[in-house]
Amino acid sequence: MRNKTISKAASNEGLSRVDGRLKVTGGAKYSAEFKVPGLAYGVLVGSTITKGSIKSIDVKAARNAPGVLAVISHFNCPKIPGYQVEPGKTEPAKGTYKLFYNNKILFNGQPVVVVIADIFERALFAASLVKVQYNTDKHRTKLLDNFASAFASPDGAETKRGVVDAWKTAPVKLEHEYVIPSEVHSPMEMHAITARWDAEDKLTVWTKTQGVKDTQNGIATIFRIPADHIQVNSKFVGGAFGGALQVWPHEVAAIIAAKVVKRPVKLMLGRADMFTSVGYRPHTWQKIGIGAAADGKLVGITHEAIGQTSTYEDFNEGTPGISRSLYACPNVNTNYKIAALDIGSPTWMRGPGEATGTFALESALDELSYALNIDPVELRVKNYAETDPGSGKPFSSKYLKEAYKMGADHIGWNDRNSKPGSVLKDGWLVGYGMGGGSFGAYRDQATARVVMTADGTLLIQSSVSDIGPGTGTAMAIIASEVMGMPAEKVQFEMGDSSLPYAPQQGGSATVATVGSAVYAACTDLKEKFQKLIGNGGADKPDYIKILKQHNLQTLEATTLSKGGPDMEKYAMYSWSVHFVKVNVHPATGVVKIERAVCVADCGHIVSPKTARSQVVGGAIGGIGMALMEEVVIDHRYGRLVNNSFADYHVPVNADIPQIEALFVNKPDPYINPMGAKGMAEIALIGMAAAVANAVYNASGKRVRELPITPDKLVMLDEVGLS
Ligand code: MOS
Repeated sequence: MRNKTISKAASNEGLSRVDGRLKVTGGAKYSAEFKVPGLAYGVLVGSTITKGSIKSIDVKAARNAPGVLAVISHFNCPKIPGYQVEPGKTEPAKGTYKLFYNNKILFNGQPVVVVIADIFERALFAASLVKVQYNTDKHRTKLLDNFASAFASPDGAETKRGVVDAWKTAPVKLEHEYVIPSEVHSPMEMHAITARWDAEDKLTVWTKTQGVKDTQNGIATIFRIPADHIQVNSKFVGGAFGGALQVWPHEVAAIIAAKVVKRPVKLMLGRADMFTSVGYRPHTWQKIGIGAAADGKLVGITHEAIGQTSTYEDFNEGTPGISRSLYACPNVNTNYKIAALDIGSPTWMRGPGEATGTFALESALDELSYALNIDPVELRVKNYAETDPGSGKPFSSKYLKEAYKMGADHIGWNDRNSKPGSVLKDGWLVGYGMGGGSFGAYRDQATARVVMTADGTLLIQSSVSDIGPGTGTAMAIIASEVMGMPAEKVQFEMGDSSLPYAPQQGGSATVATVGSAVYAACTDLKEKFQKLIGNGGADKPDYIKILKQHNLQTLEATTLSKGGPDMEKYAMYSWSVHFVKVNVHPATGVVKIERAVCVADCGHIVSPKTARSQVVGGAIGGIGMALMEEVVIDHRYGRLVNNSFADYHVPVNADIPQIEALFVNKPDPYINPMGAKGMAEIALIGMAAAVANAVYNASGKRVRELPITPDKLVMLDEVGLS
């Protein structure tokens, strides 16, 4: 239960990112920037075939190149203990890719060799001299041609509520297929690691990770050394979006290489490797059947999805799950399968599951609204879920109706012309669309240590990583408000596995999880001070004075925090809705976003400035998904062809209009003492559908396969140019 309302310290409303100065001045050090004495450099060689096996590797030229210290492949790699096969089995269990395990090629770009040299350029040159001979097998890389081999995801393929396929009996119904291509995370910072063995079984790494403790445990499992013998540092992370939630092969390569050459080894991926080696949002096909009564009340939804995975890992993200919970619909059945292709594994990417699922569901709702001749917002309000349709539990809080209204009012939704293709202004077709979604509001367990020092600075320690959302800023605000002291006097130390436990930064749960630990530790510390003064204490103790009076250098508290029974009693979600105004150029098919209004219902907003930044960033991710992002594979070779930012398009400033982030900003009474729920994933979830729906309203063209590139819209006939 929410035990105390955080007083809104007005001074914190405008608090800027606490690490902003460090980031813009180069003072923030990312994992590729650590200088370690004796450092050597590793460069990976990737497979040029897609499926088969390695026949031979000619390393002579590379080995003899200047500065080369070692050339490692499956032929000479020391045994990696965590990869060994269980008795009675011939292959290791499915899971993350096992580097240098055997001669098998499972995907194009698979790392097959690591070359280590004294300087980076020499390693890069020597890597170019490695000659690999292959036996080539026939590969399968195209999802849409390989549905026959799709299988039930291990998490359960089918779910049923009510009558199966009930939508077919509805007076107004439709059924369509929706496709999203693979998309890559595209963070600014490349994945990079520096690995240094400090003893036979003791290791220090500086690596890009969303969770230093998870990386510590992951390395411990792979190398079978005690987790507390591994020091993981990841103080600053330049964006990750789900791409740094596991130990990747290049990290294993650097750790092995450091052992072999007996020197610390740095290995940084190039941009091209970022497309093949560290996961992506999976290419996914979906089909939705949806039906409603004439008054708009939903009768049934059938949501099928097939996503791609690799042959070595059963990656699945619960794509159709969103259809079970977003609307009050009595009959919902879903079917989810994955197809194993000769391709690197996908992984989590911002809004995993829901981002893909809502593209289909929120497009289908829009299509249904036109079929019913009911306003899309009104249709959603008619089917508003007052309790969680999936679990039947009450929501801990839900203000999505308020969010609809805020967004609609702000963008001027009610003035839109609902007839598709009917507004032409200065040669551009103008339209409005909306779409939204939800994501579970999670709270995990974490520990924070807080130390008040003699000069009144509060030091907070927790091992969480910050991938960019502004964790330090939010934590400083939470501490400031509990302790009754300026946020500027709070220092938050993180990204170091020796600090108290925090889970990885994922699932939009950091403020709820680590914030709660900070809140609890600060509460405990304040009580310690109040006890020192006696008399029940003061509401705002003078910490410096009390320390001095009691002859103390510091006073500290370390507190573990986790959710209570309310986490089970209530269904906890964050919600978003996006409203978009677009212009579509009929002759060229160019889409320009004119305005986007994104409204989040994610509880109390702890840090307004960084929260706004989260929503804007997520919306841009959604615009990229809608209009530009697409991994293209040449299926003849199974090779990715657009593995650079010249060819894989993400939105740039010129593509991004005015994005307005609005917050309902009402605390959730049950999730944590701040009343704060996650906002990272919902900022993207639903955005692609909002754009597609706006494009339909503008042009009358319904695009069900992302991205909405000009070729899918060009209307030469309509404008008399054909
Ligand atoms: Mo997120 S996809 O949990 O980084």
